[in-house]
Amino acid sequence: MNLNGVKLTWLGHATFRIETPARKTIMIDPWVMGNPMCPEKDKDVKKVDVLLCTHGHFDHIGDAVTIAKKHNPTVVAIPELAHWLEKKGVKNVAGMNKGGTQTIGDIKVTMVHADHSCGIQDGDQLVYGGEACGYVIEFSNRLKIYHAGDTNVFGDMAIIRDLYSPEIAMLPIGDHYTMSPREAAYACKLLKPKTVIPMHFGTFPVLVGRPGELQKLVPDIDVVELKPGVTISHEQQIQRPELRRA
Ligand code: NI
Ligand code: MN
Repeated sequence: MNLNGVKLTWLGHATFRIETPARKTIMIDPWVMGNPMCPEKDKDVKKVDVLLCTHGHFDHIGDAVTIAKKHNPTVVAIPELAHWLEKKGVKNVAGMNKGGTQTIGDIKVTMVHADHSCGIQDGDQLVYGGEACGYVIEFSNRLKIYHAGDTNVFGDMAIIRDLYSPEIAMLPIGDHYTMSPREAAYACKLLKPKTVIPMHFGTFPVLVGRPGELQKLVPDIDVVELKPGVTISHEQQIQRPELRRA
Protein backbone atom coordinates (compact mmCIF):
# COMPACT_ATOMS: atom_id res chain seq x y z
CA MET A 1 0.00 0.00 0.00
CA ASN A 2 1.65 3.20 -1.18
CA LEU A 3 -0.06 6.18 0.46
CA ASN A 4 2.46 8.68 -0.92
CA GLY A 5 1.73 11.57 1.42
CA VAL A 6 -1.78 10.58 2.48
CA LYS A 7 -2.19 9.82 6.20
CA LEU A 8 -4.82 7.30 7.15
CA THR A 9 -6.33 6.64 10.55
CA TRP A 10 -9.09 4.14 11.29
CA LEU A 11 -11.18 5.20 14.28
CA GLY A 12 -12.99 1.88 14.47
CA HIS A 13 -16.18 0.66 12.76
CA ALA A 14 -16.66 2.62 9.48
CA THR A 15 -15.03 5.84 10.71
CA PHE A 16 -11.81 7.05 9.08
CA ARG A 17 -9.75 10.21 9.32
CA ILE A 18 -7.62 10.95 6.27
CA GLU A 19 -5.12 13.76 5.87
CA THR A 20 -4.57 14.79 2.26
CA PRO A 21 -1.25 15.85 0.71
CA ALA A 22 -2.43 19.50 1.11
CA ARG A 23 -3.08 18.78 4.82
CA LYS A 24 -6.86 18.88 4.61
CA THR A 25 -8.59 16.54 7.03
CA ILE A 26 -11.34 14.30 5.70
CA MET A 27 -13.56 12.32 7.99
CA ILE A 28 -15.72 9.48 6.69
CA ASP A 29 -18.78 8.34 8.66
CA PRO A 30 -18.25 10.33 11.84
CA TRP A 31 -19.14 8.15 14.80
CA VAL A 32 -16.71 8.66 17.66
CA MET A 33 -18.49 9.38 20.98
CA GLY A 34 -20.55 6.20 21.16
CA ASN A 35 -18.12 4.12 19.09
CA PRO A 36 -16.69 1.43 21.38
CA MET A 37 -13.73 0.93 18.99
CA CYS A 38 -12.71 4.61 18.94
CA PRO A 39 -9.78 5.43 21.24
CA GLU A 40 -10.50 8.14 23.85
CA LYS A 41 -7.85 10.47 22.40
CA ASP A 42 -9.64 10.54 19.04
CA LYS A 43 -13.08 11.35 20.44
CA ASP A 44 -12.00 14.97 20.79
CA VAL A 45 -12.04 15.81 17.08
CA LYS A 46 -9.54 18.61 16.39
CA LYS A 47 -10.08 19.49 12.74
CA VAL A 48 -12.32 18.43 9.87
CA ASP A 49 -12.40 20.07 6.43
CA VAL A 50 -14.55 17.53 4.60
CA LEU A 51 -17.13 15.20 6.11
CA LEU A 52 -18.37 12.30 3.98
CA CYS A 53 -21.54 10.51 5.10
CA THR A 54 -22.44 7.16 3.52
CA HIS A 55 -25.92 6.83 5.05
CA GLY A 56 -28.06 7.89 7.96
CA HIS A 57 -27.69 4.98 10.37
CA PHE A 58 -26.51 6.13 13.80
CA ASP A 59 -23.25 4.19 13.62
CA HIS A 60 -22.29 6.32 10.59
CA ILE A 61 -23.61 9.81 11.28
CA GLY A 62 -23.85 9.64 15.07
CA ASP A 63 -21.59 12.69 15.53
CA ALA A 64 -22.05 14.35 12.14
CA VAL A 65 -24.17 17.25 13.39
CA THR A 66 -21.97 17.98 16.41
CA ILE A 67 -18.72 17.79 14.45
CA ALA A 68 -20.10 19.81 11.52
CA LYS A 69 -21.33 22.59 13.82
CA LYS A 70 -17.98 22.76 15.59
CA HIS A 71 -15.61 22.61 12.61
CA ASN A 72 -17.77 23.82 9.70
CA PRO A 73 -16.50 21.31 7.12
CA THR A 74 -17.98 20.74 3.67
CA VAL A 75 -20.48 17.95 4.34
CA VAL A 76 -21.16 15.47 1.55
CA ALA A 77 -24.29 13.31 1.58
CA ILE A 78 -27.09 12.07 -0.66
CA PRO A 79 -29.83 14.76 -1.00
CA GLU A 80 -32.33 13.31 1.52
CA LEU A 81 -29.68 12.92 4.20
CA ALA A 82 -28.21 16.30 3.22
CA HIS A 83 -31.66 17.86 3.74
CA TRP A 84 -31.99 16.27 7.19
CA LEU A 85 -28.53 17.50 8.20
CA GLU A 86 -29.42 21.04 7.06
CA LYS A 87 -32.62 20.90 9.08
CA LYS A 88 -30.47 20.06 12.10
CA GLY A 89 -28.52 23.26 11.53
CA VAL A 90 -25.55 21.95 9.57
CA LYS A 91 -24.17 24.57 7.16
CA ASN A 92 -22.06 24.04 4.07
CA VAL A 93 -23.80 20.83 2.99
CA ALA A 94 -22.79 19.69 -0.49
CA GLY A 95 -25.49 17.24 -1.50
CA MET A 96 -24.81 14.97 -4.44
CA ASN A 97 -26.00 11.70 -5.92
CA LYS A 98 -24.64 8.46 -7.32
CA GLY A 99 -22.38 8.78 -10.34
CA GLY A 100 -21.59 12.39 -9.58
CA THR A 101 -18.13 13.72 -8.78
CA GLN A 102 -17.26 16.95 -7.01
CA THR A 103 -13.92 18.55 -6.32
CA ILE A 104 -13.46 19.74 -2.76
CA GLY A 105 -10.09 21.30 -2.02
CA ASP A 106 -7.43 18.86 -3.23
CA ILE A 107 -9.70 15.80 -3.50
CA LYS A 108 -12.26 14.54 -5.99
CA VAL A 109 -15.19 12.71 -4.45
CA THR A 110 -17.41 10.37 -6.46
CA MET A 111 -20.57 8.96 -4.94
CA VAL A 112 -21.16 5.32 -5.85
CA HIS A 113 -23.83 2.73 -5.17
CA ALA A 114 -24.19 0.67 -1.99
CA ASP A 115 -26.66 -2.14 -1.40
CA HIS A 116 -28.05 -1.31 2.03
CA SER A 117 -30.99 0.45 3.69
CA CYS A 118 -31.13 3.94 5.15
CA GLY A 119 -33.52 5.28 7.74
CA ILE A 120 -32.48 8.08 10.06
CA GLN A 121 -33.49 7.57 13.64
CA ASP A 122 -34.60 11.01 14.78
CA GLY A 123 -35.94 10.82 18.32
CA ASP A 124 -38.80 8.32 18.16
CA GLN A 125 -39.25 8.91 14.41
CA LEU A 126 -37.69 7.01 11.55
CA VAL A 127 -36.98 9.48 8.75
CA TYR A 128 -36.31 8.48 5.13
CA GLY A 129 -32.64 9.12 4.51
CA GLY A 130 -32.31 8.48 0.78
CA GLU A 131 -30.25 5.53 -0.40
CA ALA A 132 -27.05 4.32 1.18
CA CYS A 133 -23.90 5.01 -0.82
CA GLY A 134 -20.17 4.56 -0.99
CA TYR A 135 -17.42 6.98 -2.07
CA VAL A 136 -14.38 6.88 -4.29
CA ILE A 137 -11.89 9.54 -3.25
CA GLU A 138 -9.14 10.60 -5.62
CA PHE A 139 -6.22 12.45 -4.08
CA SER A 140 -3.86 14.89 -5.78
CA ASN A 141 -1.15 12.21 -5.76
CA ARG A 142 -3.53 10.04 -7.87
CA LEU A 143 -4.20 7.57 -5.05
CA LYS A 144 -7.79 6.33 -5.15
CA ILE A 145 -9.57 4.93 -2.13
CA TYR A 146 -13.02 3.33 -2.20
CA HIS A 147 -15.02 3.42 1.05
CA ALA A 148 -17.91 1.02 0.48
CA GLY A 149 -20.07 2.24 3.36
CA ASP A 150 -22.42 -0.46 4.62
CA THR A 151 -23.18 -2.83 1.79
CA ASN A 152 -23.72 -6.28 0.48
CA VAL A 153 -21.66 -7.32 -2.51
CA PHE A 154 -23.23 -6.23 -5.82
CA GLY A 155 -22.29 -6.94 -9.42
CA ASP A 156 -21.81 -3.28 -10.28
CA MET A 157 -18.71 -3.19 -8.11
CA ALA A 158 -17.16 -4.25 -11.43
CA ILE A 159 -18.19 -0.84 -12.80
CA ILE A 160 -16.44 0.85 -9.87
CA ARG A 161 -13.31 -1.06 -10.85
CA ASP A 162 -13.64 -0.28 -14.56
CA LEU A 163 -14.30 3.43 -14.09
CA TYR A 164 -12.13 4.32 -11.09
CA SER A 165 -9.76 1.39 -10.31
CA PRO A 166 -9.29 2.19 -6.62
CA GLU A 167 -6.05 0.75 -5.24
CA ILE A 168 -7.41 0.62 -1.71
CA ALA A 169 -10.88 -0.66 -0.81
CA MET A 170 -12.34 -0.17 2.66
CA LEU A 171 -14.86 -2.99 2.90
CA PRO A 172 -17.27 -3.98 5.66
CA ILE A 173 -16.73 -7.60 6.71
CA GLY A 174 -18.56 -7.91 10.03
CA ASP A 175 -21.57 -9.89 8.75
CA HIS A 176 -25.15 -9.48 10.06
CA TYR A 177 -25.74 -5.89 8.84
CA THR A 178 -23.27 -6.02 5.92
CA MET A 179 -21.08 -8.42 3.99
CA SER A 180 -19.21 -11.15 5.80
CA PRO A 181 -15.71 -12.16 4.66
CA ARG A 182 -17.33 -14.54 2.13
CA GLU A 183 -19.18 -11.75 0.29
CA ALA A 184 -16.25 -9.38 0.76
CA ALA A 185 -13.99 -11.92 -0.97
CA TYR A 186 -16.40 -11.91 -3.91
CA ALA A 187 -16.33 -8.10 -3.84
CA CYS A 188 -12.53 -8.33 -4.14
CA LYS A 189 -12.93 -10.43 -7.30
CA LEU A 190 -15.00 -7.60 -8.81
CA LEU A 191 -13.00 -4.65 -7.48
CA LYS A 192 -9.49 -6.10 -7.82
CA PRO A 193 -7.91 -3.68 -5.34
CA LYS A 194 -4.27 -3.99 -4.30
CA THR A 195 -5.20 -3.53 -0.65
CA VAL A 196 -8.30 -4.11 1.40
CA ILE A 197 -8.84 -2.38 4.72
CA PRO A 198 -11.56 -4.30 6.56
CA MET A 199 -14.07 -2.32 8.62
CA HIS A 200 -17.43 -2.68 10.36
CA PHE A 201 -16.38 -5.76 12.33
CA GLY A 202 -15.91 -6.47 16.03
CA THR A 203 -17.78 -3.38 17.22
CA PHE A 204 -20.75 -5.38 18.46
CA PRO A 205 -20.87 -9.11 19.24
CA VAL A 206 -22.94 -9.85 16.08
CA LEU A 207 -20.23 -8.38 13.82
CA VAL A 208 -18.30 -11.64 13.81
CA GLY A 209 -16.32 -11.44 10.53
CA ARG A 210 -12.55 -11.05 10.93
CA PRO A 211 -9.78 -9.80 8.61
CA GLY A 212 -7.89 -13.11 8.85
CA GLU A 213 -10.86 -14.97 7.36
CA LEU A 214 -10.96 -12.58 4.42
CA GLN A 215 -7.19 -12.83 3.90
CA LYS A 216 -7.45 -16.62 3.62
CA LEU A 217 -10.07 -16.23 0.88
CA VAL A 218 -8.09 -13.63 -1.11
CA PRO A 219 -4.43 -14.67 -0.82
CA ASP A 220 -3.34 -12.39 -3.68
CA ILE A 221 -4.65 -9.20 -2.08
CA ASP A 222 -3.12 -7.45 0.91
CA VAL A 223 -5.69 -7.43 3.67
CA VAL A 224 -4.47 -4.83 6.15
CA GLU A 225 -5.89 -4.74 9.64
CA LEU A 226 -5.50 -1.24 11.01
CA LYS A 227 -5.35 -0.53 14.72
CA PRO A 228 -7.94 2.09 15.74
CA GLY A 229 -6.29 5.45 16.38
CA VAL A 230 -2.95 4.54 14.79
CA THR A 231 -2.09 6.72 11.79
CA ILE A 232 -0.33 5.11 8.87
CA SER A 233 1.50 6.97 6.13
CA HIS A 234 4.27 4.54 5.21
CA GLU A 235 4.30 0.92 4.20
CA GLN A 236 6.58 0.07 7.14
CA GLN A 237 4.00 1.14 9.67
CA ILE A 238 1.52 -1.48 8.59
CA GLN A 239 1.50 -4.40 10.95
CA ARG A 240 0.84 -7.66 9.22
CA PRO A 241 2.07 -10.43 11.54
CA GLU A 242 -0.99 -10.24 13.79
CA LEU A 243 -3.21 -10.35 10.77
CA ARG A 244 -1.51 -13.43 9.33
CA ARG A 245 -1.99 -15.18 12.66
CA ALA A 246 -5.65 -14.27 12.91
NI1 NI B 1 -26.05 0.84 8.09
MN1 MN C 1 -23.44 0.31 9.95
